[in-house]
Amino acid sequence: MKVRDAYEDISKYYDAHRNRSPYFRIIEDLTRRCFLENTQGKSFDRGLDIGCGTGRNLPLFMNTCREVRGMDYTPAMLEHAKREYANHEQVRLMIGDAQALPFCDRSFELVASFKALPHVPDIERALAEIHRVAKDGATIFTEFYSPYSFRKLLNRMKHYTKWHSVQEAKGLLEGAGFKVKQVYGLRTFIATEYLCYLPGAYRLFNYLENRFTHSALNRFSGYYIIVSEK
Ligand SMILES: C[S@@+](CC[C@H](N)C(=O)[O-])C[C@H]1O[C@@H](n2cnc3c(N)ncnc32)[C@H](O)[C@@H]1O
Repeated sequence: MKVRDAYEDISKYYDAHRNRSPYFRIIEDLTRRCFLENTQGKSFDRGLDIGCGTGRNLPLFMNTCREVRGMDYTPAMLEHAKREYANHEQVRLMIGDAQALPFCDRSFELVASFKALPHVPDIERALAEIHRVAKDGATIFTEFYSPYSFRKLLNRMKHYTKWHSVQEAKGLLEGAGFKVKQVYGLRTFIATEYLCYLPGAYRLFNYLENRFTHSALNRFSGYYIIVSEK
């Protein structure tokens, strides 16, 4: 199944599932923490969310950027975002491919791609595109999936997903010309989402994931976000 077909289907339950899942509350809160810790006190002219999907992270951009662009490859995912942000002039949404960004060189001071790059066939090309559209000094968030994780063990069937060790991902970013600053590990301890529904589990996992997000254990994280700078 191609990635677009997969997400056409996933779009039907993507938000509903995440809205009620304690597991995704932990993951999305950590994403928010990473974003806020690296944008605090700054304001940006233009921000870009690549693979924005249904737009779950767009409010983060809206609080820090004067203009926000959201782009995604799957029309059905983007339709949700279009409905949600129809009345926000600050936000413009478009269909596009991370491997050929429809923007001019040096357009953005903030570029992020959460949970999308592992689905892109040519990730080096996508990173070169991010580098091209980012201004000098831009803050960049990219998210990868570790092969040494519970998540990989349990996700063998997802052949549209690629897995990179932290070292490989850092190498890709540095190869594209970025300066790596910080790694945030997410889903290091949570073997499966369903564990988070057990009594007391949300609090325990929330504590552990936050406490160890910057530890060497992040090489075993199902997801990890690398903060870098152009
Ligand atoms: C797991 S969702 C993440 C959505 C959003 N970033 C979030 O965190 O909720 C992955 C998204 O990546 C998009 N995607 C996959 N390949 C892409 C590509 N080549 N260019 C842009 N977006 C892509 C999919 O359509 C999907 O909406």
